[in-house]
Amino acid sequence: MQITWDSIWYNANVATMVPDTHAYGMVENGAVCVQQGIVDRVGPTHSLPEGSLARAKEIKDCSGRLVTPGLVDCHTHLIYAGNRAGEFEMRLKGASYQDIARAGGGVMSTVRATRSASEDQLFEQTLLRMNGLLDNGVTTVEIKSGYGLDTASEIKMLRVAKRLAHSTPANITVTFLGAHAVPTEYNGRADAYIDLVCEEMLPRVVEEGLADAVDAFCEGIAFSPQQVERVFVAAAEHGLETKCHAEQLSHLGGAVLAARHGAISVDHLEYLHERDVAVLADAGTVAVLLPGAFYVLRETRLPPIEAMRRHGVPMAIATDSNPGSSPVLSLTLMLNMACTLFGLTPEEALAGATREGARALRMVDETGTIERGKWADLALWNVREPSELSYQVGGNPCQAVMHRGRLR
Ligand code: NIG
Ligand code: FE
Repeated sequence: MQITWDSIWYNANVATMVPDTHAYGMVENGAVCVQQGIVDRVGPTHSLPEGSLARAKEIKDCSGRLVTPGLVDCHTHLIYAGNRAGEFEMRLKGASYQDIARAGGGVMSTVRATRSASEDQLFEQTLLRMNGLLDNGVTTVEIKSGYGLDTASEIKMLRVAKRLAHSTPANITVTFLGAHAVPTEYNGRADAYIDLVCEEMLPRVVEEGLADAVDAFCEGIAFSPQQVERVFVAAAEHGLETKCHAEQLSHLGGAVLAARHGAISVDHLEYLHERDVAVLADAGTVAVLLPGAFYVLRETRLPPIEAMRRHGVPMAIATDSNPGSSPVLSLTLMLNMACTLFGLTPEEALAGATREGARALRMVDETGTIERGKWADLALWNVREPSELSYQVGGNPCQAVMHRGRLR
């Protein structure tokens, strides 16, 4: 029986990102055959069964260019109104991110703008940013709430996320981040706000099926480990996965706490201690590195990369796209920053924005590598070597994107 594939991308340097003996899981002069949105075959172009190209419904001659898994951006705050360019200017004049937050700016400034925006306005504004990400080769995006901070506004954000999931050619996962900051009306009553998150917001979010995971910000300007732990316990009661913004500006122990509660990922981690790393490794928790926020906040303390490498902690890379600490829409720029600022190798960086990003979303069985049986999420780049994706600073080498078998 002759096989007819829906599409074949051939004559490509295919960086499958399947961990094996070849760097980048590379198949040189390779072909990827797709059937019903799924990768059916990956191998050298010359070993395709005779007549395959003639029979396929759609073919693309990649002319020796690079094909990678569609990129995975596993940490974004893409939904918001307004911007914080004014705070950027204040920081350049010497104010710190924490000073601005304590004075009622920071996250709260975006909360005010987001509360005043209608669902449609939020949707339209976010769609522009989403398209920016996708133009750059991304096929999977995680989106957090966390700029509503009252029940109605958090639900509004999550509904926008769900609408995006239905109208965007990408895999979208949604995370409830009610515990992002203490809203002004709860000043000095953070515990009471956590009651609201756990007893009112979370049950509503679950009832409406609006989130896949729950996140919390463990930090001096946000919530204590005890408060964050209450959120994790409530999430577990509802059967939701957990994630944690931890050790970004100081060491409060949020990462170890989250790992012990079985969190899928802990994110930021500049202030993580070396002794914490073994706990992440044992728990299989993914470390999500966010070089955009490190860069924008002009942080100088580096996450303990070498210790994570030694302990085999999976490292993902994401944009953290948000209006305050990381107004970033290019995941390939984050590959560059992960290498130049954090000392990752280009292969670690690309794995971080594909396979390990998928792992941080518990989607690594579906996407993040080019393998038989996984979704046909692919990106074609106007480069030949995968290291060029990390090497280039700015610009957009992405030439074509396939999401679950469909050309974007
Ligand atoms: O991941 N760290 C906390 N949350 C965001 C920033 C949010 C903001 O400043 O609006 C972050 O960096
Ligand atoms: Fe974040």
